[in-house]
Amino acid sequence: DLPPTTAVRGRLVWFRDDPFLTSSDNALVYVDDGLLICRDGEIVAAGDYGQLVATLPPGVTVVSYRDKVILPGLVGSHAHYVQMRIIASYGEQLPEWLQDYVYPEESRFVDPAYARPIAALFCDELLRSGTTTAMVYCAPSPESVDALFEESVGRGMRLVAGKVLMDRNAPPAMLDSSPEQAYEDSANLIKRWHGVGRSVYAVTPRFAYTCTSRMLSAAGELWRDHPGTLLQTHVSENVREIQQVAELFPRPPYRDYIDVYEQHGLLGPGAVFAHAVHLSKREWRRLHETGSGVSHCPTSNLFLGSGLFRMKRAVKSGRRVPVGLGSDVAGGTSLSLLQTASEAYKVGALRGFPMDGVKLFYLATVGSATAMRLDHLIGSLEPGHEADFIVLDPAATPQLDARTSGADTVDDLLFSLAVMGDDRTVLATYIAGRLAHHRDARPT
Ligand code: GUN
Ligand code: ZN
Repeated sequence: DLPPTTAVRGRLVWFRDDPFLTSSDNALVYVDDGLLICRDGEIVAAGDYGQLVATLPPGVTVVSYRDKVILPGLVGSHAHYVQMRIIASYGEQLPEWLQDYVYPEESRFVDPAYARPIAALFCDELLRSGTTTAMVYCAPSPESVDALFEESVGRGMRLVAGKVLMDRNAPPAMLDSSPEQAYEDSANLIKRWHGVGRSVYAVTPRFAYTCTSRMLSAAGELWRDHPGTLLQTHVSENVREIQQVAELFPRPPYRDYIDVYEQHGLLGPGAVFAHAVHLSKREWRRLHETGSGVSHCPTSNLFLGSGLFRMKRAVKSGRRVPVGLGSDVAGGTSLSLLQTASEAYKVGALRGFPMDGVKLFYLATVGSATAMRLDHLIGSLEPGHEADFIVLDPAATPQLDARTSGADTVDDLLFSLAVMGDDRTVLATYIAGRLAHHRDARPT
């Protein structure tokens, strides 16, 4: 039941090339008075209003967003929906934060009645923040996966998610009873959800510290046995975590953290590694050579005191690794990828790598989509892509209006939206050509 044709008029922005390898001007597509035409959930035309308006079928009303900016829906490459209620948990770094806050909360998701409203809240908050696709951790319980996909399918979203796999170093009640059982539980979830609506399943070993070698191998097998699924895990987030993993998987035979995953078949196109804060050059090279992706989660890396991501290493020419942005809620402090982009800028500034508005929005759209190998479907307004798009309001607040009305280039406009934007900036979110959120909608 997709709307046959939707047409919106406004300032269109998307990307045709990689601004980390070419100039931002080359990478940016900007149409000042643009028309975006969607049919059956897909973009069929994007270009100049004056040229395209005559091609509209009779009876189609153009929705006018004349002074607004229409962009591809934002794409998040890492978040934990089961942590929505423990955001802003005080005072700990990763190891203690997991023990004290995360595991007690995630253990509640064996109860579908607990999981459902949080899954609904998560999806609604994504849409309100302008995020149309996210790659998401559920809890260890299969019920937590059912709850999320039920909500995302109901909203027509292309959501990527999976059941957490762990068989050591976490509370016993949360551990999979064996790698074989974990394989079977995950395979059942893949059968139940992968390809239902726009759902994509992600095999989800939590991280090497909570997985035995046999569990990591089971994850690799699962991923290989189910083509089209993705893989997500955490890597090199916290210095003590890295030390603990090095003790469990010593050298030799494991050269480093990335090698632990590689030796269990977990590197490759469609694998997304969250954080990647403390990787060596060898590890970046292996990510590049295997086509693996990374999710940069700056609000989390700052909140948990994990460290400062090195974007310069990630995008080095000749060794480019696909990088997206992730909120990593609840390590992160906001689901908004605009606020995430703002923190990415500041972390870049501290590392001597400031990023302009084109680069920041690229990371939050094509960057994440490419890390997830979904860039042929989402993250762009190029015809043939799915019609997930957002409308940003440069006058959302008096302060933002004062800043953006003085912006003299599109890049500067995008930069101010990325640095100052939040959920208020998102006027509307469209999923598959249908309005899914409007900031100013009145209750009916
Ligand atoms: N490493 C293993 N589990 C987690 C988690 O839930 N959040 C973050 N930020 N890092 C992790
Ligand atoms: Zn995480």
